[in-house]
Amino acid sequence: MPVTIITGAQWGDEGKGKVTDYFTIKSDAVIRVQGGNNAGHTVVIGEEKYEMHLLPSGILHADKPALIGDGVVINPGVIVQEIRDLRKRGINCENLKISPRAHLIMPYHIALDEMREVRPGKFHIGTTKRGIGPAYADKAARFGIRMGDLLDRGEFELKLRHALSEKNVILREVYGHPGCDPLQIMDEYLAYRKELAQYIIDPLPLVREMLACGKEILVEGAQGTLLDIDHGTYPYVTSSHPIAAGACLGTGISPGSINRVVGVVKAYLTRVGDGPFPTELIDETGNALRVKGSEYGTTTGRPRRIGWLDLVLLKYAQQINGFNDIVVTKLDVLDDLDEIKVCVAYKYQGETVTYPPGDLGRLGEVEPVYETLPGWKKPIGEINKYEDLPENAKKYIEFISNRINVQISNIACGKRRSQMIPVEAVLHLAVKTKYITATESITKRSEKSGK
Ligand code: IMP
Repeated sequence: MPVTIITGAQWGDEGKGKVTDYFTIKSDAVIRVQGGNNAGHTVVIGEEKYEMHLLPSGILHADKPALIGDGVVINPGVIVQEIRDLRKRGINCENLKISPRAHLIMPYHIALDEMREVRPGKFHIGTTKRGIGPAYADKAARFGIRMGDLLDRGEFELKLRHALSEKNVILREVYGHPGCDPLQIMDEYLAYRKELAQYIIDPLPLVREMLACGKEILVEGAQGTLLDIDHGTYPYVTSSHPIAAGACLGTGISPGSINRVVGVVKAYLTRVGDGPFPTELIDETGNALRVKGSEYGTTTGRPRRIGWLDLVLLKYAQQINGFNDIVVTKLDVLDDLDEIKVCVAYKYQGETVTYPPGDLGRLGEVEPVYETLPGWKKPIGEINKYEDLPENAKKYIEFISNRINVQISNIACGKRRSQMIPVEAVLHLAVKTKYITATESITKRSEKSGK
């Protein structure tokens, strides 16, 4: 039952779209697990660039089912537009299935998200203003409207009017917003229904059937570990579970079916929105990396904050997710640097520590401790064999792998699909991770216990 999860190890934007696209080649289906159109996944194939916010990156492989799981929140207008755009480019999207249990993002969610963000005071998160938090809040409050409800006009109208009886009071009384018109929303959403109804099909039976036949399923996460609502830098987080464990919640796949968790790690660090960032670079180096790495939000266009790689946080992500291996992305963005700093510890409350504060919200109180590595000062974008990388680039990669004790399986050195260096077979580091299937692991446990 081989399921591989692709998980962001940092604050999102690690390059998961490209990595998912690469891993989809070896998979039989791909399922998107959480988040909504706050995400932006970019895939470049030849000269063609695809930017998707809701559709799984696997949609570009027409012969493989591209599924959207229960844990995703969907703005129907955005997904309709993405489908139309892809169709114009010759991708028919017939492989798409959307869970009827995925929740809808409604206009009042977006209005509330926007209003809360501009409200005076210090409780500002820097969200993408796409209605993500309010949609997940309604889901938890059992007040949400789901994709399946779109198929039943009567049920949809009933739920919409019930929701608006509360949301419009909040919008008007608290925020001075004119409120949302139920008839206008009905018209708009029922028009989307026409285009989406054919895709609203429970993807789980197909996933289970495929797993039973030994097919490979790829789970595509959005955002990153440090944005997890429980394990991230709360409250500066998103409202879902981008960690590997969230893959089971957002798809309905059982934990026993997972046999590989791939962490995606950018060679440096970025974050969008507010919140602590110990290794942030507010200087020329940060600006140069932002430009070279095109570090502007795919969704909002906001310039991303830039910093050195933080191994304390990466180790934390490893502990939370249990990566079997990691893919390092955007290594080429560091090509021009004379030297590269890596945060290996923190000074926190007078002590040097190699773990983050228990409450990640206190991350703003730490001071990073760096080790400095020499740069390689050569373009590496066209290199496709690990052996051909400059020695200092290899040293950087091996430093990361050894310090966090995880095998690096691939290195991405550019945006194109072809710019991926497989290193699984080449790197023989201290860590040798073997991917064991659930059945193997049960057998091993029983052998150990003599049962
Ligand atoms: P929300 O998900 O729009 O509620 O935003 C909450 C926080 O998560 C903000 O700091 C956003 O910038 C951040 N965020 C949400 N989605 C992404 C993403 O795909 N990449 C990077 N940051 C994200």
